[in-house]
Amino acid sequence: MNILVVGSGGREHALAWKIAKSPRLSKLYCAPGNGGTRLVAENVAIGDADVRALADFGARERIDLTVVGPEVPLSLGLVDEFEKRGLRVFGPTRKAAELESSKVYAKQFMARHKIPTGRFKVADSAAEAMAVLRSGEFSLPVVVKADGLAAGKGVIICKTTQEAEKAIRSIMVEKQFGEAGKRVLIEEFLRGKEVSFIVVSDGVRALPFVTTMDHKAVFDGDEGPNTGGMGTISPSLFLTDALYDEVMRTIIGPTIVRMAEDGRPYKGALYAGLMLTAEGPKVLEYNCRFGDPETQPQMLRLTSDLVDLLLAAVEGDIGTQKVRWSEEAAACVILASGGYPGAYEKGKVIEGLEEAARVPGVEIFHAGTKFENGRYLTSGGRVLGVCGTGPTLAAARAKIYRAVGLIRFDGLHYRRDIGTARMDG
Ligand code: AMP
Ligand code: GLY
Repeated sequence: MNILVVGSGGREHALAWKIAKSPRLSKLYCAPGNGGTRLVAENVAIGDADVRALADFGARERIDLTVVGPEVPLSLGLVDEFEKRGLRVFGPTRKAAELESSKVYAKQFMARHKIPTGRFKVADSAAEAMAVLRSGEFSLPVVVKADGLAAGKGVIICKTTQEAEKAIRSIMVEKQFGEAGKRVLIEEFLRGKEVSFIVVSDGVRALPFVTTMDHKAVFDGDEGPNTGGMGTISPSLFLTDALYDEVMRTIIGPTIVRMAEDGRPYKGALYAGLMLTAEGPKVLEYNCRFGDPETQPQMLRLTSDLVDLLLAAVEGDIGTQKVRWSEEAAACVILASGGYPGAYEKGKVIEGLEEAARVPGVEIFHAGTKFENGRYLTSGGRVLGVCGTGPTLAAARAKIYRAVGLIRFDGLHYRRDIGTARMDG
């Protein structure tokens, strides 16, 4: 089979790395890919949001399966476009992807179907949002969210009313996120441990992936601003068997069933960001895709064929799949450019990659890298995901940090506490 992976992050490198091991594969492409995907696939210079050009490429190169990594092409209707042309594609349609691309849609969907989530109000104008704040309906801290996609920056946790007013002004008046901020959500702040719950669905059933926990804050001890994720461990330390069953029964199951009933059957990866609250698991947000970096340790633990699974999801018969996972623990530590998630410099030479890759049990996935004149250069905020497995989390962690110590670039920043006992979300 000819397979195309769309995207350019660590998630896409991990997916491509796993797909490359499939006996069903003839030729693998990645668009646009990064410095690492070129080691397992042919990089194609088409941006991941250029849906038309991607579909043209899919038709021309007789691509048998396209796997979409990021949310933006899904929200632009990549799957609709490919399906229109009779091309097989893994991911939700534009309407199904609204679970992520409109936080208002997602919250209203959950409210309508009694899927556990925090209390919320929708506001269509700054005045309305201010009135909600002043009504005293939400105690502090309160969460203000832009409705649309805002590259992970549209969620503001406000400790004071002044902060909340400032957030509303910046989203709705100054239009910091453009159209994405036409509506806002005012939300109850949920307390508890945060876990990522990721499944693959064929539109009818859901097949859960091994559990993971992401660490979003940029500095050790969960200090500093949120990022796209600075490190992930798998399994999650907190999702007990009982909680796992509860999540499947009260959240994942109803989400898949109700989306189909609402005429938006959900096919593809579904990521529920959950808070394990004192009242049980509640949804913080849905993502219409695999997680990044969550996918990286998950791909290390997946021992059965990924292509079989993705094809079964596309064809609507996921029930036939026997997915196998390693019992080992896995983790991923992100090496980032100094300054991320704020401004950072690019184009720094990365050294020590080959040595680091030789540490047994370690796999390095590239995110913001490019290969130029025989060298790897940084080209993004999250640069590399150094991943590893071991019989225990501590063993995986030791290997990963040994490899991390061998990699150098100007401004390199990473968390030193991924996978430690202190990592309690
Ligand atoms: P989201 O993109 O909606 O997941 O928000 C990004 C991050 O903000 C989440 O991963 C949580 O850590 C935090 N967050 C979002 N909503 C809430 C909430 N209602 N209560 C507490 N934390 C939240
Ligand atoms: N790691 C968080 C995400 O993929 O959204």
